[in-house]
Amino acid sequence: MTAPRLELDNATRTYHSDGEEVAALRGVSLRLDAGSVCALLGRSGCGKTTLLNLAGAMDFPTSGDVRIDGRSTLAMGDAELTALRRRTVGFVFQFFQLLPTLTVLENVELPLLLSGRTDTSGAALDRLRWVGLEEKARAMPHQLSGGQMQRVAIARALVHEPEILIADEPTGNLDTASGETVLQLIRESADRFGVAVLMATHSAEAAAIADRRVHLRDGQIVSVEAT
Ligand SMILES: Nc1ncnc2c1ncn2[C@@H]1O[C@H](COP(=O)(O)OP(=O)(O)O)[C@@H](O)[C@H]1O
Ligand SMILES: [Mg+2]
Repeated sequence: MTAPRLELDNATRTYHSDGEEVAALRGVSLRLDAGSVCALLGRSGCGKTTLLNLAGAMDFPTSGDVRIDGRSTLAMGDAELTALRRRTVGFVFQFFQLLPTLTVLENVELPLLLSGRTDTSGAALDRLRWVGLEEKARAMPHQLSGGQMQRVAIARALVHEPEILIADEPTGNLDTASGETVLQLIRESADRFGVAVLMATHSAEAAAIADRRVHLRDGQIVSVEAT
C-alpha cells in the first residue's frame, strides 16, 4: 500500500485573535488518494479554507497531524516546505489571482520559473492548449472573461505537474457555463494526470464532479458521501 497523497489525522486549528480563541477545525481526519476528487461542503465559516491551508502546507495544525506523501508538514523545514509548495501542490482560488502585469503565458510560466526550470514556455503553452486558450498567450489578464481567467489559473496550477490540486471555491465567481468548463478541467486533472484534488465549494454542480463529498459544520466533519 502506498501512502495517501494527503492525510489529515485528527487535525485541529485554533486561531487566536484579539484575545479570543476560534476553533476553526476540531479534529478532522481525511485522506486523499491520487486521481480522486474530494469536495468540502458547508456554510461560510465552517472551516473549509482553514482545512485547505493545512492541506497545502500554507498553515499548520494546532494539534493532530497533516501528512503529504507520508511526511508530516510539522516536521518539514523551510526549504522542504518551499519545495513542496512549488513542486507538489497547485492552487486555484475564487478570484483567480492572476498577476495583472504579466501576460497569460507569463502567468502560467511563473511556477516553473520559481522552481528554477528553464525552457518554461513550451510546458506553459502545452497547458494553455489543454485549457483551450493557447491563442490568448500574449493577452493580459484584464482582456479575458472570468471563465477564461480561471482556465488560465488552472493551467498555472498544473503546469509544474503537482500531485495535489487545492481549489477554494473555484466556480464561486463564475456563471454556470464557465463554471462547467472549469469543473470539467478539474475532473480531467484527476482522471488524466492523476492529481489528487481537494475542492471547497458551495455549488451543487461542483460537488457533483467529486468522488467524495465531505460536509463540515463548525470545524467538524458531519457526514461523508461517496459516489
Ligand atoms: N486568520 C484568522 N484569524 C482568526 N480567525 C479566523 C482566521 N481565519 C479564519 N478564521 C475563523 O475560522 C473559522 C473558519 O473560517 P474559514 O476556514 O475561512 O471557513 P470557510 O472557508 O468555510 O468560510 C471562521 O470562524 C473564521 O472567522
Ligand atoms: Mg473559505
